[in-house]
Amino acid sequence: MSSQADLMDKVVALAKRRGFIFQSSEIYGGLSGAWDYGPYGVELKRNVKNAWWQSVVHWREDMVGLDAAILMHPKTWEASGHIANFADMMVDCKNPKCSGRFRPDQLKDHKCPKCGGTEFTEPRAFNLMLKTSVGAMEDSSSVVYLRPETAQGIFVNFQNVIDSTHRKLSFGIAQTGKSFRNEITPGNFTFRTREFEQMEIEYFCRPEQALAKYEEWIQSRFSWYIDLGIKKENLKLRVHDKDELAHYAAGCTDVEYNFPFGWSELEGIANRGDYDLKQHAKFSGKDLQYQDPVTLEKFFPHVIEPSGGCDRATLAFMVDAYHEETVNDTLRVVMKFHPRLAPIKVAVLPLLKKNEGIVALAKKIKSELQKDIVCVYDDTAAIGKLYRRQDEVGTVFCVTVDVQSLEDKQVTVRHRDTMQQERIPVENLHRYLKEKLI
Ligand code: GAP
Repeated sequence: MSSQADLMDKVVALAKRRGFIFQSSEIYGGLSGAWDYGPYGVELKRNVKNAWWQSVVHWREDMVGLDAAILMHPKTWEASGHIANFADMMVDCKNPKCSGRFRPDQLKDHKCPKCGGTEFTEPRAFNLMLKTSVGAMEDSSSVVYLRPETAQGIFVNFQNVIDSTHRKLSFGIAQTGKSFRNEITPGNFTFRTREFEQMEIEYFCRPEQALAKYEEWIQSRFSWYIDLGIKKENLKLRVHDKDELAHYAAGCTDVEYNFPFGWSELEGIANRGDYDLKQHAKFSGKDLQYQDPVTLEKFFPHVIEPSGGCDRATLAFMVDAYHEETVNDTLRVVMKFHPRLAPIKVAVLPLLKKNEGIVALAKKIKSELQKDIVCVYDDTAAIGKLYRRQDEVGTVFCVTVDVQSLEDKQVTVRHRDTMQQERIPVENLHRYLKEKLI
């Protein structure tokens, strides 16, 4: 197996070679902090989002979904505190040939990571929000921000959701979507980028329930990663120290993954008190209190916020799935994705691409499976090569059609992880695969 040091390089190389992730606008030299998901990456990332949505919305009674706009009224960001506080400290290297820009915590032994220089400007705050303007006029009244988090879209719709769904406490609202931050130093592949996708929940409850709900969400979010195949030893919880917390927060716990570049945050679960709804009530002048339908008592609910990054989760699933082994003196690279996350579930492969009967049966099998199983047909190489290619993208099963299949109406099903093969009657194939893929 790879050492931690080169595992990341191998995953990055595979991501490009096999069409998971490409550099944004690569033909123009690329754009720092932005990445494109290729044919397999888009399937994988979509599966990550779907698995999240299923787990936090469809499989629960107390959750609903939302899809708010990226552009929001600029007052939103005054109320949330982002305009005043959403900043990283930054220093510039004073070497005129370098002028690198860094967060002070990135300087090891007070040395510039780019040129080794030791003189820097005083640290100053750098707001991370990306600005643009709407409408024909580009003046101060047209300024809007690309949202730096999806969370505020949920808070500003709190009353709309209650009015339209008659939800009672406790309940939560989930949303996935793009967020943008002008990170000073994007890096570690898709881990820290300027455009990324978040998977966020705002869970509203009575103040006295907040601690219990906070603990529940920590466990439930931790288990989600494990249930989808992340190795237990690569995942841990990190409770924030008091001095890391925002002044209004009662607690925050991160789910961290053991990336090749060190333990790093996948998701934070925060106990935010009633800060956000109170702020939006103050800035909008709207009454955002919850009214108990029985006692008619009015109050601001407390909020638990499990907030994760889809790109980071996808990267962790890729790193964790990467597996190498030697088979017959050659290297076999397998992405051992959980079947629910695998971009392709089944590849249907004809053993002889010039045999019309085999090709016709293989295409017929594919067209029947594809109704509810994501599958591909491939005849572009010899079978050994096709197996290796499917292993590298994590395809769970290969179904091979051969001359014998035309006579006995059976096909060979090859299992990705064990490479074991078994003959399955074509008429049972769909049911067999469905059962194994659940
Ligand atoms: N609403 C709370 C919030 O946005 P955050 O810790 O700033 O909290 C939540 O972000 C998650 O979003 C992080 O745990 C991470 O997974 C993801 N995320 C944040 N900044 C990111 C970046 N620059 N690139 C990729 N993912 C990022």
